[in-house]
Amino acid sequence: MSNARIIGSGSYLPERCLTNAELAKTVETSDEWITERTGIKRRHIAAKHETVHSMGTMAAKLALAKANVEASDIDLIIVATCTPERFLPSAACLVQQGLGIEKNIIAFDVSAACTGFIYALSIAEKFIKTESIQNALIIGSEVMSRVVDWQDRRTCVLFGDGAGAVVLQASDEPGIVSSHLHAQGKYGEMLYIMNPAVADLDGANKSTIQMRGNEVFKMAVRAMGDVVTETLEANNLSQDDIDWLVPHQANLRIILATAKKLSLPMDRVIVTVDEHANTSGASIPLALDVGLRDGRIKPGQTVLFEAIGGGLTWGSALVII
Ligand code: ACO
Repeated sequence: MSNARIIGSGSYLPERCLTNAELAKTVETSDEWITERTGIKRRHIAAKHETVHSMGTMAAKLALAKANVEASDIDLIIVATCTPERFLPSAACLVQQGLGIEKNIIAFDVSAACTGFIYALSIAEKFIKTESIQNALIIGSEVMSRVVDWQDRRTCVLFGDGAGAVVLQASDEPGIVSSHLHAQGKYGEMLYIMNPAVADLDGANKSTIQMRGNEVFKMAVRAMGDVVTETLEANNLSQDDIDWLVPHQANLRIILATAKKLSLPMDRVIVTVDEHANTSGASIPLALDVGLRDGRIKPGQTVLFEAIGGGLTWGSALVII
């Protein structure tokens, strides 16, 4: 059975950057509150013409170039997103079109909110391990700015837009070592976005993000700690075996708690939440691309991804780069 290796990454961020100070002019908040409670300083906001698939296509092109793989060699595209502009066709099919891939491939979206990229990576790994495909594009892309209520200070300060992508290839060398996926629907009401076509049937518009932040925060700290332990135990590893933590970027305080659980100093954690805010399914591939491109993450190193999001869903993936 083949291994599945990440052989290239790419990312895309909209040009428009919205700072905490600018936000404080439109809702009752402050740079001090946002920084202290979340670590966020700014976020990128998509322009009208930018969508999940347009940003995903841009990130994918950069990942393909880095991997030295032609778009025509891709057999599978998975887009992790909770903000697609169309329910159908999937964003993945639109990316296929954007990349000009003429041959028939497998393409679909994964809905697992902020854990979506880890779910997608794990699914693609199974396709590669069973030797049914050679090359996969795994993309996380989100326009969270279109699903937040810009009058709601409890949520609008938290999110941003962007896309990240990786090329996953069958290889004899180690790649994805293990992945650990979880979901618990009984926590669904803690964090949700309703389909706008049905959202106001009960008289209340819930098509913007609804989050009981405090409860999600407590769950996040616990679940991220547990999944880190699960991953280490499953692979018979100790904390010292992890070179880099690339966590979902929701809140610096959650990231600090997970790093502490791993006894990892913060200079071995990729942090982008200050610059990108929470880009949901895009946050891990965006952070990975930052770490790879600036040379901090080096070939052969062991990297741990972990995330929690709406569902609730949570999970991790241990990867040798
Ligand atoms: N500016 C100023 N004050 C604010 C703001 C704001 N932007 N937002 C809330 N407050 C106020 C509240 O009204 C509250 O005031 P009160 O005490 O007078 O009622 C006070 O600040 C404290 O509010 P809390 O909600 O208790 O603040 P907390 O420290 O929990 O931080 C936060 C809130 C940042 C949302 C945190 O709970 C969090 O990060 N939660 C987890 C988010 C997450 O991980 N989500 C998962 C992924 S998202 C996805 O799947 C799409």
